[in-house]
Amino acid sequence: MEKKQELYRGKAKSVYATDDANHYIMYFRDDTSALDGQIIKQLDRKGRTNNHFNFFIMKKLEAAGIPVHVEELLSDRECLVKKLDMVPVECVVRNVSAGSICKRLGVAEGLELNPPTFEFFLKNDALHDPMVNDSHIISFGWGTQEQMDEMRRLSYKVNDVLKALFDEAGLILVDYKLEFGLYEGKLMLGDEFSPDGCRLWDKQTRKKLDKDRFRQGLGDVIEGYEEVARRIGCPL
Ligand code: TMP
Repeated sequence: MEKKQELYRGKAKSVYATDDANHYIMYFRDDTSALDGQIIKQLDRKGRTNNHFNFFIMKKLEAAGIPVHVEELLSDRECLVKKLDMVPVECVVRNVSAGSICKRLGVAEGLELNPPTFEFFLKNDALHDPMVNDSHIISFGWGTQEQMDEMRRLSYKVNDVLKALFDEAGLILVDYKLEFGLYEGKLMLGDEFSPDGCRLWDKQTRKKLDKDRFRQGLGDVIEGYEEVARRIGCPL
C-alpha cells in the first residue's frame, strides 16, 4: 500500500494517508513527551521499540477476541491500521494506585485496587486531559451510552488478557490508557498499547519499566521498555 501525505502529527506518532481510503499508516517517531507535550526528547530506538511492542500486544488482544485497528507490520517504524473515527475520550483502567489518582484523591502509590477502577478522560492537552463521566460524554455528544458501555467492557477484557500476560513475565500491569474508534459502525481498539501509555513494575522489586522512567528522570527509559519486550517474548 502506498504511503501518502502526513495527516496528523501527534506527540510520538504520525498518521499518514494511503492510496486506500479505509487505511492509514501509523509511523512511530523517536519523540518522547511529558507534561502534555511541554517536554519532548528524542530517545534512540524508541519508535522501533514501541511499533514492535504495539503490534505484538494488539495481535494478542485480537486473538483473544478484541477488535483492533492494527493489521500489518510494515517496517520497524510503520504499521498498517484501519482508519477509525475516534471517540475523543481516553479509557484508563487501574489495578494499582499510581500517577494522577494519587494526586487527585490523596492516596498512596502502590495500593491494590480491587475491583480495578475505570475512568474516562477527555482528550485535550490544553486542558490537561480532564476526567469526565458518562453524563458529560452524552451531554456534549462525545459518545453514546452504548459506546461507553462497550468501551468499558472491552477495557476490562483487555485487563484480563494483559494482566495475565505480564504476570507470567514477572510484571505488574499497574494501569493503562486505551483509545477506541468506529470502523463501519463497529467500536475497535485504536491508537497504541506500549510502555508509553501504561505502567509496568517488576513484581519482585517494583522497579518501574515504563514511561515513568522518563517522567521522573530515572534514566534507562528505552532499556526498561526493551526489558519488558524481552520478558514477554516480543521480537524487537
Ligand atoms: P494518569 O495516572 O496520568 O491518569 O495515567 C494513567 C495511565 O494512563 C498511565 O499509564 C498513563 C496513561 N495515560 C496516557 O498514556 N495518556 C494520557 O493522556 C492519560 C490521561 C493517561
